[in-house]
Amino acid sequence: MQIAIDGPASAGKSTIAKLIAKNLNFVYCDTGAMYRTVTLLAKKHNIDYGDSSNILKLMNEHKIHFINKTDGQHVMLDDEDVSDAIRTEEITNNVSQVSAIKEVRTELVEMQRQMAGDINIVMDGRDIGTTVLPDADVKIFLIASVAVRAERRYKENIERGIDTSLDVLKDEIAARDYKDSHRKISPLKKADDAIEVDSSNMNIEQVVEQITKIINQKK
Ligand code: DC
Repeated sequence: MQIAIDGPASAGKSTIAKLIAKNLNFVYCDTGAMYRTVTLLAKKHNIDYGDSSNILKLMNEHKIHFINKTDGQHVMLDDEDVSDAIRTEEITNNVSQVSAIKEVRTELVEMQRQMAGDINIVMDGRDIGTTVLPDADVKIFLIASVAVRAERRYKENIERGIDTSLDVLKDEIAARDYKDSHRKISPLKKADDAIEVDSSNMNIEQVVEQITKIINQKK
């Protein structure tokens, strides 16, 4: 069974997708982490975030993969655990540019399809229901207002000791939404057959419950 969870930045996709995968004993795949790792790869090699040919070359020379540890899934770039390094503000603010590169998307979409194969999987991202897994059994489009998403990211940042302003976060989230929805290839868009879930006024448990109900109806 394939479950696609798409939606804008900070709507809670990965938190929800992880919990659903755990409850159902499905594999979880965070496709945003893959775009972030390519962005980190460019940064490490001082390559411009828009330099498609050099970024593609680097992607062919390095391996992006996931490993499972007791505390959850970790993202690896070759032998290095980059799970934290891909969450910095620098990467967050530049990943939209890298993920708009056609060749980057082609490579990562292929990797994502291979990972999904015919196993039970929950995959989250922006284009899973529209492009990566168009035949997914369940497609969820998870949204929340910009204000609520900024608030959530603000709290996360405080927990991680990162100093940010709520207004700056609102602007960054709105800018990323705009870039992700207006890029030429596979823009963030609700698939025609996706079910929209608005988490603005729900807590994590309520969202998990609502999506689990939708999945159970499809089983
Ligand atoms: O979900 P996230 O914030 O970690 O995603 C990081 C960026 O990667 C996001 O700005 C858009 C891009 N992305 C994408 O273009 N397609 C996906 N399937 C997943 C993420």
